Amino acid sequence: MNVETIEDLFGSRLQRAYYAERTHAELCSEMAADATAGDFRDLLEDHRTETDDQIGRLEDVFAALGRRPRASRTRTVDGLVESWHQHAEAADEPAVPGALEIALMAERLEVRTYESLLRLAGRLAYADDVVEPLETNLAEERAALEALETIQTERPVLEAVGITE
Ligand SMILES: [Fe+2]
Ligand SMILES: [Fe+2]
Repeated sequence: MNVETIEDLFGSRLQRAYYAERTHAELCSEMAADATAGDFRDLLEDHRTETDDQIGRLEDVFAALGRRPRASRTRTVDGLVESWHQHAEAADEPAVPGALEIALMAERLEVRTYESLLRLAGRLAYADDVVEPLETNLAEERAALEALETIQTERPVLEAVGITE
């Protein structure tokens, strides 16, 4: 889509967020199925359920703007999926990020996405039917990020980045 106004920019970022969430839902499931540590697996499974709700909230935002939900592919998200597939194929390869590292990158990306959408929504003076679903999603992403960071700090450094000695 052509981006000429802040409104267009918001629309374009919303489509990217929709792509990110739908991709992330699958990624959470795949990573949970592969996870060996119980705390990490539980977190991914819970976050998969939350992600389904987040997708629904983004659809509410599209509806509030009178638009149909549309996903725009982004290379950053595809890169995370690619990292995950590389990890799944070569878990022992030190150059490949570990599962926890990939999960952290995904959450950080989502937090940034919602922060930027909310900043634009503020500039556009959008109403609560746009702002509130985005705020709820942001709060969930921040909580997921925090929970992953707790897991990371509780693990030995090398293990947390996917290196087993
Ligand atoms: Fe999400
Ligand atoms: Fe997330």
